[in-house]
Amino acid sequence: PASARPARGSGLLVGGVDLAEAADRFGTPLYVLDEGEVRARARAWRRALPQADVHYAAKAFLCTAMAEWIADEGLGLDVCSAGELRLAAGAGFPPERILLHGNAKTPEELRLAHRLRVGRIVVDNLAEIPRLAALTVADTPQRVLVRVVPGVAAGHHRAVRTGVAGQKFGFPITGGDAAEAIDRVLAQPGLRLVGLHCHLGSQITDTGPYLAALDRLVDLLAGIRDRHGVELPELDLGGGHGVRYLPGDAELDPVRFAADTTARLAARCAERGLAVPRLLVEPGRAIAAPAAVALYRVLAVKHGADGRAFAAVDGGMSDNPRPALYGSTYHVRPVGRPATAPTARFDVVGRHCEAGDVLVRDAELPADLRPGDLLAVPAAGAYQVSMASAYNLVGRPAVAAVRDGRIRLLIRRETVEDFRAREVGR
Ligand code: LLP
Repeated sequence: PASARPARGSGLLVGGVDLAEAADRFGTPLYVLDEGEVRARARAWRRALPQADVHYAAKAFLCTAMAEWIADEGLGLDVCSAGELRLAAGAGFPPERILLHGNAKTPEELRLAHRLRVGRIVVDNLAEIPRLAALTVADTPQRVLVRVVPGVAAGHHRAVRTGVAGQKFGFPITGGDAAEAIDRVLAQPGLRLVGLHCHLGSQITDTGPYLAALDRLVDLLAGIRDRHGVELPELDLGGGHGVRYLPGDAELDPVRFAADTTARLAARCAERGLAVPRLLVEPGRAIAAPAAVALYRVLAVKHGADGRAFAAVDGGMSDNPRPALYGSTYHVRPVGRPATAPTARFDVVGRHCEAGDVLVRDAELPADLRPGDLLAVPAAGAYQVSMASAYNLVGRPAVAAVRDGRIRLLIRRETVEDFRAREVGR
């Protein structure tokens, strides 16, 4: 994995690039993305599921280079806004391999998706069915999936558990909501219902929840066949595959995911007398998270009265809101320090005006940590830059890519001039 490997001296290398040099050259906070790792992970998903369609979930992290690598590795792309869709289109991503999500797609987003001829649109509410149908004509129907809620709880935090009732996404299978959506889609000549979709949650580390959801989706497929006489050819299990944030964490391996789900799908379809549908999956974090390291410079070290020590860095909740939002945990390592240095515990805190701006609690760092030291946080490639904010007008971080021992800037740091440029009145 791309997580920083110890270099021969006391520095850290990612993709053959020295992180201390990268920080000196581009400044911090800096996100260093390993192109080889993104590609290797994308390829691992494709190879594990050769019969399936793998759509990378752009929400984890998207920029033009990322879209090019994902396209190049033969994957599709899951987008959920006009912004992601336009960026992908601008990168030359093949539209037939794009799938559009969203619980509140705007009319503009539906029009854009239709104009670009995206491969699939996932229907998430009744209102968008006639809206979408009005754009399409029967001789070139839009392929759609209906997002259902299977009633399976999974994921690292309540805020990301989407597989159960009581949250905003999809149509619950129980109570007839899903059946009604399916009836309405089937009644539209301009829409071609190709399958069902579900997404359970995020950072799921075993296949159990996927198998439970799969059972319910196959039951629903059989119900649709009995009611309408159609066998839908696709089943999308969404994303949510867990990765390693801390050294001891479990990771959901694509090969195991593929083996378990394809075996279960074949068995359940045989029981129901259904042809086995094509599987679709939407890994985001599993491809992006392990491929980047976040680099921060220590600005101050403080020893609190209760013995707690703080290492304050030049980033924080604006470039990584996950600890504050979900209580997410991270590992942090010093850059340019011998591994043998005596350690002490520090809370690595950000620079924002909130006591809750803590990136890593109780990190083991060199006891003599001092301002100017560099810290690296691995597994930083998903839902950090993509969720970064402009809080305190600190400016969103820069992103660089490494490949074959060379580094290049992909996204420059945001500056106050960027904020000023958006101000059109006073
Ligand atoms: N498909 C759908 C429909 C989704 O809603 C998501 C994530 C994915 C795929 C990709 O899930 P992944 O494989 O990346 O877990 N900000 C949160 C995660 C929110 C995920 C939202 N949907 C976090 O930082 O943990």
